[in-house]
Amino acid sequence: MSVHPNSKDSALRQRAANVIPGGMYGHQSIGRLPDGYPQFFSRADGCRLWDADGNELIDYMCAYGPNLLGYHHAQVEDAAARQQALGDALTGPSEVMVTYAERLVDTISHADWAMFTKNGADSTSSCIQIARAYTGKNKILIAEGSYHGANFWSTPRPSGVPDDDRKHLIRYQYNDLASLDAAVAEAGDDFAGIFATAYKHDAFVANESVDPAFARHCRKLADRHDAVLMVDDVRAGFRMAHNGSWSSVGVEPDLSSWGKVLANGHPISAHLGNTRMREAAESIFITGSYWFAAVPMAAGLAVLDVLEEKDVVSHVTQMGEMLRSGLAEQAQRYGFDLVQSGPAQMPQVLFANDPDRVLGDAWCLECLKRGVYFHPWHNMFLSLAHQPDDIERTLDAADSAFKALQSLRSPTQG
Ligand SMILES: Cc1ncc(COP(=O)(O)O)c(C=O)c1O
Repeated sequence: MSVHPNSKDSALRQRAANVIPGGMYGHQSIGRLPDGYPQFFSRADGCRLWDADGNELIDYMCAYGPNLLGYHHAQVEDAAARQQALGDALTGPSEVMVTYAERLVDTISHADWAMFTKNGADSTSSCIQIARAYTGKNKILIAEGSYHGANFWSTPRPSGVPDDDRKHLIRYQYNDLASLDAAVAEAGDDFAGIFATAYKHDAFVANESVDPAFARHCRKLADRHDAVLMVDDVRAGFRMAHNGSWSSVGVEPDLSSWGKVLANGHPISAHLGNTRMREAAESIFITGSYWFAAVPMAAGLAVLDVLEEKDVVSHVTQMGEMLRSGLAEQAQRYGFDLVQSGPAQMPQVLFANDPDRVLGDAWCLECLKRGVYFHPWHNMFLSLAHQPDDIERTLDAADSAFKALQSLRSPTQG
């Protein structure tokens, strides 16, 4: 594997350490992954990833979400190439921007309009700005531990951020109606809106589906106070449902933020809103040099075509369930207490009684050595490119990884 000190990955890390702060930063830094994970990759195709040293891996991170249909999906790449030949970042937008907004509005039931940005954090920040513009108020309620991107108000590491940038955020506990009530009371007459993720997909802990009663309570409180309900669908969008993720519990937000899967890896994000939010959306000034580039929009349209042609949600769910039940059977056979949570297509796999992740890290590393890229503490992602034989190969690797792990088992396990 690329752990070897003479590996290309190691050489790249040394070069990077000279010219890139920390050698790498952000969510794709391997700083909190077990030693032995590669930092650099050379290429990808379908659900396969090759690290800088040429090791082939079955990828369960999908670029941390964007790869929904498979890397290099022909229909998406053809559409992108056709648009590239015409033009991408121009002096103004192309027709494709209007068509893409129309298609998103047709696809997402709560949406009457769409605005485009680049990253998920742009879209979540824009939602908050619109909520404040609509209400003329400041306080935004967000769930403890939830991630909404790395802008000033939301970055998990606040180094370099004045406290004032967060002073209008109030935390509630996800799925806890009483804590939401308390947060609304704390916001008082400055209550602008509630931001909720599609489900509780926090890192390091077991994930939780949204409780329909909680989603309905969010809607009720927003309506009662003429505040704004926002759902952050950046991570779960189009993997949970063809519509917005909370459509499955019958609750429509006023605003939703999207990113990641929208164009299967081409850079674009979006926030969508209902008619009530339109005037406020028109009132804010947001922009970016690349926000109106046409290629990602053409790619996004091709993604919507594929979603209409194929039941992607069912496929990724089935593949996730196949993986989940195989891992459960293996863990039981080898005597490990595996905690599998979250939707099957976005699985979070942890070991019980493993607070320092000794078992989780070691098991993932053993899987990696056998050609499977799992993540020890972040939810993973299935794609349309994952097929039953990929899952079977993954389970073969996982089986020998469990076997290799038996010597590490703690007395509380099994
Ligand atoms: C729920 C959620 N919101 C927002 C973001 C930020 O997206 P981006 O990294 O594209 O800025 C993420 C990224 O992981 C996310 O998972």
